[in-house]
Amino acid sequence: MDYLKVTPNHLPHIALIQLNRPKELNALNLQLMGELRDALRSLDADTDVRVIVLTGNERAFAAGADIKEMAGRTAIDMFNVDQFTTWDTIKKTKKPIIAAVSGFALGGGCELAMLCDMIIASESAQFGQPEIKIGTMPGAGGTQRLTRAVGKQWAMEMVLTGQFMSAEKAYQAGLVNRVVPVELYLQEALKLAQQIAQMSPIAVKLAKESVLQAFNSHLDEGLAFERKNFYLTFASNDQKEGMTAFVEKRAPRFEGK
Ligand code: CAA
Repeated sequence: MDYLKVTPNHLPHIALIQLNRPKELNALNLQLMGELRDALRSLDADTDVRVIVLTGNERAFAAGADIKEMAGRTAIDMFNVDQFTTWDTIKKTKKPIIAAVSGFALGGGCELAMLCDMIIASESAQFGQPEIKIGTMPGAGGTQRLTRAVGKQWAMEMVLTGQFMSAEKAYQAGLVNRVVPVELYLQEALKLAQQIAQMSPIAVKLAKESVLQAFNSHLDEGLAFERKNFYLTFASNDQKEGMTAFVEKRAPRFEGK
């Protein structure tokens, strides 16, 4: 992998993916996104991995889709390249992904962070959808996910002016889970991952799928979906183990079965 560093067992049950195109501020070219899709597919299939942390570096999570790669393309080129099937595959990752964001998370970089399930931000993180400044608009979910996260007013202002949002403001607006000093952002994301990795991996996947369903359905449909997944956890040994451990006043041992 040229543009990623992937460590499947960074910590027990926790994989770490680092975007690694530092000179270009981790601009998301097609190759990088293809590598990311393949890495996530393989980590999703790895039974030893329960949670994935995705990060960049201190200066940039990712400064967007690669403008140099896109600049000369026609609409038909874009249609034929069909980069968003890669994004659609990433979206299907069943295990939770935590974005550890420092520095720039712009355009596709902001969209990638929002595609993750939670975001831990460093104090220096800046979020933005600046595509409008280069004559285009968000194409990887920004108008939808940002609006759902921060509401119409902020989303509209960011998308129409390209103005960045600071980490602190992003926290106030509900875009990120928490903001920590720069030297701690990865550590904090890993800490959150460790917490989740202790749970039943089956229940975690079903719960993630159910929370995401809230964005795709009316309330009654979402409730029915949730109920189905809730019942399904009762087909796992982990549910028996979790409830028995509670009754026996001991810590559960979840095995993902
Ligand atoms: N694509 C390609 N290269 C990029 C890039 C991008 N999105 N962002 C930064 N780079 C490159 C720069 O061209 C520069 O390369 P060179 O050294 O070869 O000139 C290098 O990364 C460092 O960047 P800067 O010198 O510009 O660094 P800076 O600190 O002065 O500015 C910045 C940082 C504000 C992030 C600025 O680089 C910038 O505005 N980048 C573009 C942000 C943007 O518009 N993103 C949206 C892209 S479109 C998109 O994402 C569509 C979509 O929805 C999928």
